[in-house]
Amino acid sequence: MAESILLTPGATREQTYQELFPQIESVVMGETHLVANLANIAAMLREAFGFFWVGFYTKVEGKDELVLGPFQGPLACTRIPFSKGVCGAAALTQEAQLVPNVNEFPGHIACSSASQSEVVIPVVAEGTTQLVLDVDSDQLDDFTQLDVEELTKIMELVRKQHFVE
Ligand code: SME
Repeated sequence: MAESILLTPGATREQTYQELFPQIESVVMGETHLVANLANIAAMLREAFGFFWVGFYTKVEGKDELVLGPFQGPLACTRIPFSKGVCGAAALTQEAQLVPNVNEFPGHIACSSASQSEVVIPVVAEGTTQLVLDVDSDQLDDFTQLDVEELTKIMELVRKQHFVE
């Protein structure tokens, strides 16, 4: 495995996703341990885009609750019920959440007051949300449909490698 990711400095976010995807694919498809892969994805996304916070919440067995998984960034909340916050909404609806201003999202959980916008992508298998990817920015309106699409492609790799026979 390569020791570090290779990206063109100053590239657009779209180009960076294009360059990053095969590198994430190679890491994820080369390893069968879920936590190891989530840890490296969080590290690669943070390094590539400098996101304020990027990480995972995984479903608690037998409960409609998420618990903190591998992440990069400041200290985070550990437990999130499916009924609360942006992560909970993604887990409950099984749909990506794109939130331009978290202060206007009912029930948003402010792990950090610096967080201003957020995108959350669920990984769904066997009818259940298995985990969510949460990316937070300290800028308002920092994410677009491009982020939803590209991050969904990355989460599809996780779903294929870890949750599909
Ligand atoms: N803001 C999230 C909680 C997780 S942290 O931002 C890391 C939410 O409302 O679900």
